[in-house]
Amino acid sequence: MGVRGGDGGEEQDAEFGTVASWTADAVAALGDEYAIVAGCRGSGDPALLDWLARSCALSPSVGMVDVGAGVGGASAWAAEKYGVRPVLVEPMEDACRAERRIFGRTAICASGDRLPFGDRVFDVAWCVGVLCTVHDKFALLREIRRVLRPGGSLGMLVLVAEPGLHSELPRGNEFPDLDELRDLLAQTGFDVRELIEAAGGTEPAEWPRQAQRVDELLAKLHGDDPRWQEAEEQSGKLAHLLETRQLTRRLVHAVKA
Ligand SMILES: C[S@@+](CC[C@H](N)C(=O)[O-])C[C@H]1O[C@@H](n2cnc3c(N)ncnc32)[C@H](O)[C@@H]1O
Repeated sequence: MGVRGGDGGEEQDAEFGTVASWTADAVAALGDEYAIVAGCRGSGDPALLDWLARSCALSPSVGMVDVGAGVGGASAWAAEKYGVRPVLVEPMEDACRAERRIFGRTAICASGDRLPFGDRVFDVAWCVGVLCTVHDKFALLREIRRVLRPGGSLGMLVLVAEPGLHSELPRGNEFPDLDELRDLLAQTGFDVRELIEAAGGTEPAEWPRQAQRVDELLAKLHGDDPRWQEAEEQSGKLAHLLETRQLTRRLVHAVKA
């Protein structure tokens, strides 16, 4: 079975809501060249996103939905590199507003387990770094499957619990183990085409430098705010779990069976 951190309502509000608004302020102060890096603070780096993009055969003619889009960095990256025009879905209103301010697009404010679309309308769905933040993973994946056309692609980045995981978990997260992830995908009607461990640290040199500038500005402006401290505490726990390989990052390409 997967592993769960305690109730995370307020921490997730801080991390995915308030910090999203602050991130939009930081991009306004630093400049548009910081937008994608700031927007991907949660999970993305370009090598991982490129793996997902190539696996899902992104192109300008592909209809794509990004479920749990955050402030939209991953989608903006895909739009810039592959010419796709993703539809963004994100449940946190602050994140939707931040997405609009940073990238000028409109995210649909909705939960991934109740998508406001008809059946079989998208060729590709992304769900990047979202699964571990969701309790009912089955409902989320079933709903994503519903909106995909037959043979459509699901691209995910998933944080997976490794055997021997023992450190304290970030609150509100429930990490599936590898068997649970494979079972979930099979039970929700996906065929796994590839499931690999994501290599880290392959981003271009300016990426971590820009991410650090965003972090430094946020810390300078909001370092005394308990919501910033909460969000930092959660991401510190996550970083430790990844460094010690109690969690690993997995990339998934699956197809609607
Ligand atoms: C770690 S962030 C990743 C954001 C973005 N995909 C990225 O890669 O930068 C997880 C996101 O999942 C969203 N989320 C949480 N529960 C969700 C749900 N039930 N449906 C869709 N998204 C959800 C959160 O609000 C948050 O924006």
